[in-house]
Amino acid sequence: KKIEKKDLKELYQDSDIKLAADIIKNGGLVAFPTETVYGLGANALMEEAAKKIYAAKGRPSDNPLIVHISKVEDVWHIAKRIPHIFYELAKKFWPGPMTLVLKKKEIVPDATSGGLDTVAIRLPENNIARSLIEVAGVPVAAPSANTSGRPSPTRASHVFEDMNGRIDMIIDGGAVGIGVESTIVDLTGDIPTLLRPGAITLEMLIEICGEVEVDPAIENLLSNSEAPKAPGMKYKHYAPKADMRLIKGNENDVLDYLRSKIKKADHGIAILTIDEHLKVLHSEGKNNNIKILSLGSIMDMESIAHNLFDVLRQCDELGVSEIISESFDESGIGRAIMNRLKKAAGFNIIDV
Ligand code: TXA
Ligand code: MG
Repeated sequence: KKIEKKDLKELYQDSDIKLAADIIKNGGLVAFPTETVYGLGANALMEEAAKKIYAAKGRPSDNPLIVHISKVEDVWHIAKRIPHIFYELAKKFWPGPMTLVLKKKEIVPDATSGGLDTVAIRLPENNIARSLIEVAGVPVAAPSANTSGRPSPTRASHVFEDMNGRIDMIIDGGAVGIGVESTIVDLTGDIPTLLRPGAITLEMLIEICGEVEVDPAIENLLSNSEAPKAPGMKYKHYAPKADMRLIKGNENDVLDYLRSKIKKADHGIAILTIDEHLKVLHSEGKNNNIKILSLGSIMDMESIAHNLFDVLRQCDELGVSEIISESFDESGIGRAIMNRLKKAAGFNIIDV
């Protein structure tokens, strides 16, 4: 049954939310919508419940979970040594698509924190998410509700594809708004460090913090000796089944490259492009091996973030053996888009 957007007060009364909250309180798993992607929720303070998440996702146990809360004060239960900048960021961007890493208190079990002495915390904006946490009365650990390695789910149907039979309940809140996961900022060092880019952009963070470091794992493939600070960033991610690469270059060279691919393709290739390039690519004529998919309009980068994971999942359904995607400018939300595209492509980039 689909739970439509309602206001918070109505949702607190909702019997479906009560049922979901009871499942979580008692150690079960519930997938629920957030404004970024669907999450797979469990009681963050119950070791056994958090462990079930790793089993359902097939997730490596050293990859910690984000703990979701419903009001800022809940942070005091689970984190300590909270710096002043935390309150400034929370005031500006919570509820919303930002996760903050703080020193954890003992009460947070190792299964939730992946054995680290820190905990990642987010106060989501989505009404269903917030009332679920509020009614459950416990912080809710929730990674993205996909099988480990697959694109994050932006619709309940994606969750169903990956999690059917492995979890207790899915709350269908329709398609999510943003489409890429939250921005993660580590506040345990002297200077705030961006660990994962999202809809709260680096530019927006710098406005509040003054100085922000960027974990190099966001933009480049690390050598084996380097480790990203967000453990999850080291795993191949969002990876479609086909071989994927990104093309980079000036617009005319990129279009020339794609045209020649369209002419010559003798195996299934998906081309991920933008609305503005559809006409010229289609004018190349028909080649049944080629599937041209638009990520959205270059004039509306938010639409590209919104469609990204859905399009990557579509590529799997098309059964192509190769995916070629256009690249984007890495400013604003473009940094988050390029981070997900590069990871999906295993940092396989062609300069044309
Ligand atoms: O938008 C989101 O953040 C979504 C929704 C459901 O809220 N959740 C999400 O969770 O994306 P997940 O588990 O797919 O990604 C969590 C990321 C991983 O890369 C993990 O390594 C990192 O957060 N992380 C969690 N705890 C951390 C910690 N204590 N220190 C550094 N990184 C941490
Ligand atoms: Mg994830």
